[in-house]
Amino acid sequence: MSYSKNSDFKDRAVTTLRLQQMKQAGMKISCLTAYDYTTAKIIDDAGIDLILVGDSLGNIVQGNETTISVSLEDTIYHTRYVAKAATRALVVGDMPFMSYQVTSNEAFRNAGRLMKETGCAAVKLEGAGEVVLDAVKRMTDSGIPVMGHLGLTPQSINQFGSYRARGKDASEADKIFDDARKLQDAGAFAVTLEKIPAVLGQKITENLSIPTIGIGAGPHCDGQILVYTDMLGITKDFSPRFVRRYTDLHATITDAITRYQEDVREGSFPNSEESY
Ligand code: KIV
Repeated sequence: MSYSKNSDFKDRAVTTLRLQQMKQAGMKISCLTAYDYTTAKIIDDAGIDLILVGDSLGNIVQGNETTISVSLEDTIYHTRYVAKAATRALVVGDMPFMSYQVTSNEAFRNAGRLMKETGCAAVKLEGAGEVVLDAVKRMTDSGIPVMGHLGLTPQSINQFGSYRARGKDASEADKIFDDARKLQDAGAFAVTLEKIPAVLGQKITENLSIPTIGIGAGPHCDGQILVYTDMLGITKDFSPRFVRRYTDLHATITDAITRYQEDVREGSFPNSEESY
């Protein structure tokens, strides 16, 4: 029996089951990040399947060089407003650095908080270490869908020492492949693959039954994700080759602001129709 029509449960078009079905049907999954209500609403209305409230908010919203300092409170704050806006897309909250690496107990509680306090439908975390795999198993056993993230995992930037592509040599590629399988076995519903060779993205995609979502992982992944400010050309100083810019909003916004400023300075704004 379903109570969904009479409760506040949002009967979303996109669920983890739907993503699974899309993989099976060969339908590509479109994903973008968002960090606020207004942007998330535009993205959701446009029909994007999955919205990630990425810890890239540390870069995009907070202006930091890395994602390391993002807190669980920051993530909860932003995820709440994205989840409020999205009526169709699956909203995934990104667990920040040190919110899930210490013990699987802590990870489990923090994932629960992220879901309960925001209304997101799933969480994402990076890597596939022992604690992470245990946490993924406990979460998925308890109704918290989890998306993995392998390849370039930005929370480990201080360990890697650079944002170079991962999995280019055989042993690193084998590890990423094995980790993807471990995440699937632990119950993850999907895995993000960041900045790895296209052949490795293809191999993982063909060998997993769960969807792979690529960002710089080639065209064979089951879906693609980009940071929305990159694909809209709002950010100017970040241009890795995996980003395709669909517009130049930086120039459009700058032009609009410049014209507004000129109008204010010369006194032509507001005019009589814009006044009471
Ligand atoms: O934080 C983020 O935005 C991400 C995506 C780039 C996958 O993890």
